[in-house]
Amino acid sequence: MKKKLIAGNWKMNGGLAANESLIQALLSGLAAKAALCDIAVCVPAPYLAQLQSLLAGSALALGAQDVSAHEGGAYTGEVAAAMLKDFAVRYCLVGHSERRLYHGESDALVATKAQRALAAGITPIVCIGETLAEREAGKTEEVVKRQLAAVIQLNGHCVSEIVVAYEPVWAIGTGKTASPEQAQEVHAVLRAQLNAASAHAERIQILYGGSMNAANAQQLLGQPDIDGGLIGGAALKAADFLTIIAAAA
Ligand code: 13P
Repeated sequence: MKKKLIAGNWKMNGGLAANESLIQALLSGLAAKAALCDIAVCVPAPYLAQLQSLLAGSALALGAQDVSAHEGGAYTGEVAAAMLKDFAVRYCLVGHSERRLYHGESDALVATKAQRALAAGITPIVCIGETLAEREAGKTEEVVKRQLAAVIQLNGHCVSEIVVAYEPVWAIGTGKTASPEQAQEVHAVLRAQLNAASAHAERIQILYGGSMNAANAQQLLGQPDIDGGLIGGAALKAADFLTIIAAAA
């Protein structure tokens, strides 16, 4: 069975002192346990150097929250995949719904970002998910398949190297979690789409994200096609994040 991946998305939260105490608490909480699942924290770019040093030699992998679709050059404010690699970044979120919504990121741009990450040896965590209006219009499957298809088409056989995160937009930061059955239903669709695209797709971890917390993680992670979680708010509290990790291990 493949390992589950529990990834924290800190979003635009943190500070030098807060990061250090959160990581110390996580590392001491993890010390007793073997790394039975993959664990990562996706942090704001200015803290990559700090986190690289805090996480060195630990079971926690470093992740970024975004990457430029360009290789380098005159793109003010952007961060290239090669720069992330300089700080031992292992994972990078691409296409988070907050970037699709607030920064107008299209499916094509997200696919290119995934390609840049892969080319630099970074695993893109490709985020997809429907809005409430799309769900209510019965378009969930169509939307998530379209979002994932863009990444599959551009990345060809490399697609087996990605991680997918299904994050229904209506469940993010709202306290409204998709029920385990609702999440599983979409994950099964994504699993079938990935399997049809690549002979090696079985290794792809499909995470659920959207108000996953210490209380509901076990049930969600118990679904056959849920291979981990992408955690926002609960990843900022060491005890909650550790409980979610324990549910995955
Ligand atoms: P919450 O866990 O805070 O709902 O956020 C989910 C998310 O967007 C993770 O990327």
